[in-house]
Amino acid sequence: MERKTASAPAPLGAYAAPPATANPAKPLNRDVNAVPDDYFIPGRFAGRTYIVTGCARGMGRMAAIRLCREGANVVGVDWLKDEGEAVIAGIVASGGNARFVFGDVSENVVADEMVRIAVEAFGRLDGAINNAGVMDAVFPGDPVDYASQKRLAMNPIHESSDEYWDVVMRVNATGVFKSLRAELRQMVTQGSGGSIVNVSSVAGLRGFGGTPSYVASKHAVTGLTKNAAIDYAAYGIRVNSVHMANTATPMVDRAMELVRAKVKASGAPPGIGLAKTKSLLQYEDSAGRDSTPAEQVAVMLFLLSPESSNLTGANYATDGGFSTY
Ligand SMILES: NC(=O)c1ccc[n+]([C@@H]2O[C@H](COP(=O)([O-])OP(=O)(O)OC[C@H]3O[C@@H](n4cnc5c(N)ncnc54)[C@H](O)[C@@H]3O)[C@@H](O)[C@H]2O)c1
Repeated sequence: MERKTASAPAPLGAYAAPPATANPAKPLNRDVNAVPDDYFIPGRFAGRTYIVTGCARGMGRMAAIRLCREGANVVGVDWLKDEGEAVIAGIVASGGNARFVFGDVSENVVADEMVRIAVEAFGRLDGAINNAGVMDAVFPGDPVDYASQKRLAMNPIHESSDEYWDVVMRVNATGVFKSLRAELRQMVTQGSGGSIVNVSSVAGLRGFGGTPSYVASKHAVTGLTKNAAIDYAAYGIRVNSVHMANTATPMVDRAMELVRAKVKASGAPPGIGLAKTKSLLQYEDSAGRDSTPAEQVAVMLFLLSPESSNLTGANYATDGGFSTY
């Protein structure tokens, strides 16, 4: 039978090519190439509207851009005003439909506003990627200065400050709760189902040394996902979460800078907390590469799409095998 290719996906480029030789000393070894940053499936989300929190950079930025390239309307939210506005302006300049909402997703006024704008501008809401999150209590826009930020940085429990605990829990756990609440109120009233993806972490599936608030808050996202899936299946709304390991974004660069500064300042060896930092694929990759935002966004968009119609309430380890070993 002839295949219909009227709106075929963009080429996968290097991904489809034979894998590169990784290591001359191990000639049979091969690296796994990442899906290209500009890969997209034309028209997949035409006429649909999604919220993406944390759209100013990292995975949220890439999710907003790719959703719009696939025909979606997007409301992007971030508390980095200039960077967030620039991402949305770039989408609009290239012909996409997008709006920006500035603010902190853990505030009701912001969660309500992002839904209000989606309905006002695009008439409906079909789902969301609740992605905004922090690893520590240092504001994402601030440069690293460990000496003055020690109290805000990640530390084991006996050395953790109230600010570190409060800010990370408020953004990661309360922020996802309030985003879900605002989105689900609209989606239930609308009555046309939909799909929501919550961004957790491998730290929402297992323990991770030295980051108590991050681990607790990401486990909260895991639990909220299961709870929401149960309560909203009756409305045709699916809710899943994704759990990545190291992914190349400004968050990881900054977290590693803070960790290095902490190890240096303490003068002690890093300890068990840093015994395992690499995913399976990262460990075997000749350059030790992190996962890319494009690899993560590919899974998030699949979970938003009708192709994942049987998937809800699941916590996907999108982690290059990190939690397997
Ligand atoms: N990068 C990784 O290795 C990794 C691993 C596991 C999980 N994650 C999770 O992925 C998500 C995205 O992270 P990223 O790596 O792209 O980080 P990032 O810092 O590059 O991007 C996160 C974005 O969210 C925004 N944001 C954070 N808190 C906010 C708030 N309260 N209100 C509005 N905007 C807010 C930031 O300003 C930033 O633009 C986070 O939830 C993070 O915990 C990342």
